[in-house]
This record gives sequence, C-alpha cells and structure tokens, in this order.
Amino acid sequence: MRAFDVVGDIAVLKIPESLLPKKKIIGEALMRVHSHVKTVLNQTSPVSGEFRTRSVEVIAGEPKTTTIYRENGCLFKVDIEKAYFSPRLATERRRIANLVRPGEVITNLFAGVGGYSIVAAKKSQARKIYSIDINPAAFESMVENIRINKVGDRVVPILGDARDVVNERIGGEADRVLMPLPELGHEFLTVAIDAMKPTGGVVHYYTFGNEPDVFGPSIDFAGDVAAKKGFRMEVLEKREIRSYATRCYHIAVDLGLKPR
Ligand SMILES: C[S@@+](CC[C@H](N)C(=O)[O-])C[C@H]1O[C@@H](n2cnc3c(N)ncnc32)[C@H](O)[C@@H]1O
Repeated sequence: MRAFDVVGDIAVLKIPESLLPKKKIIGEALMRVHSHVKTVLNQTSPVSGEFRTRSVEVIAGEPKTTTIYRENGCLFKVDIEKAYFSPRLATERRRIANLVRPGEVITNLFAGVGGYSIVAAKKSQARKIYSIDINPAAFESMVENIRINKVGDRVVPILGDARDVVNERIGGEADRVLMPLPELGHEFLTVAIDAMKPTGGVVHYYTFGNEPDVFGPSIDFAGDVAAKKGFRMEVLEKREIRSYATRCYHIAVDLGLKPR
C-alpha cells in the first residue's frame, strides 16, 4: 500500500514526528516525482469526531485544501480538511453500484460528499438515492457534486442526523441501505433496518473485525438485531476492505433481510 493518498491534485501524507523538520523537502520532492500534484498536505491529526474530519497543513505547493477528484466516471469536489473523503474506497463504491438493480430506492445514512450515492446514480438505474450527512460542509460539497455529475433528478441530499431523518421523514422506503461509517455501524443497524421497506431489502453493514474471527461477532450481532426487528437475515457477501490496525480490519457485510 502506498504511504500517501493522492486526491485530485493534492497529496496527503502522514509525516512521522522524527521527519517533521524535513517536511518541506519531503513535500517538494514528492511534487517533483508526481508532476500532477500541485499541493502537498501533512495530516496533523487523526480522522476524528462526529464529522470524521482531520487537520492538515500545507507543506509544499499551492496553499489550498480543495480539489477536484475523478473516480468511477464521476467528479468530486472535496475539501480535504472540512469533510471526510478517501480515494481508497473507490473499489467498494464501484462494487456497491454494480449490485444496484433498476428502480431501486437507496438510503445512504452517511453520505459525506456523495461518493457512494453519486457513483451508484451514475452506474445504475436506481430510482432515488436519499443521501444524508450531518456535517454542513460535507452536505454543501455533496450538493455541488450532485450538480456537477448531473444526478439531481435521483440523488436527494439531506442535511441532518441519520437517525432523525429516518425516523421523521424517510423510514420504510429503501430497497438498499448503505451505512459507510464503520465506527457507528453497530449503533445504527436498527436505523438502517427502519430505513428499509417492510418487505425487506439489503443492508450494507460496515464495521470493524478482529482476527482470528474477523466476521463472526458482527454477523451474530446483526442477526440478533434483525431478529428483534422481525427479520430473517442472510449474509450475501462479506469482505475485508482494508487493514485498520494490527489484526483489525474495516469490513463490509452485505445483509439480505426478509420479514419473518
Ligand atoms: C466515514 S464518512 C463517509 C463519507 C462517505 N460515505 C465516503 O465514503 O466518502 C462518515 C460520514 O458520516 C457523517 N455522520 C456522522 N454521524 C452522522 C449521523 N448521525 N448522521 C448522518 N451523518 C453522520 C460524517 O459527517 C461523515 O461525513
């Protein structure tokens, strides 16, 4: 895996403490090797908080944190500091989009700048994609990205807490629910089920799993939650998305749910 991410024309590094005195030289060297990179950022805090954002500092090139990123035939305007975005999830976004059947209603509980929702809209014939985020800056970028990618007829951006939005406005509508926030996967599984049609559907459940049994505990947990909500659950697919910490993985479990 490469030691830095490139988002559009911005490279993001995590420079270790010992190399901080050389950060300017490192940034400039990176720009010489990767000529399309116009700005090099050093990430100065972990991704954290409700908005899943991080602090950065410009160490070389143009003083900016916003860029345009191309992925899966879509363009995304992203402010690296104000909203979460990871180019490392491109394969997962494409995988989900390829599963969508014509006419589906999708609810994305944690839509960020619109990555999963817009790729799904572009690559499938989904009828409607509700895209919720609680971060006003992410929401603003999502609205812009929906416009840039011309998917405003089907992607519906909603600013708010996914729990309230589902409870008050869009419960019981979705054929497919995305919950791309592994930190809150367990907590929001009931919300995902409430977002789904009473006749059932698919929930893309993201969470973390530890070796040696990476998937088992999460599948058991999801099965219990589904049963309490009156659904039978089938695991349609499970995969490790990326290594998160020692012996710990960010995982995806696709849950097929049918009423009992
Ligand atoms: C890990 S990011 C995922 C963003 C996007 N799906 C992507 O892959 O680029 C999680 C997003 O969930 C949002 N979020 C956190 N808590 C939320 C809540 N209770 N309701 C709605 N959105 C929330 C954050 O603001 C953040 O943008």
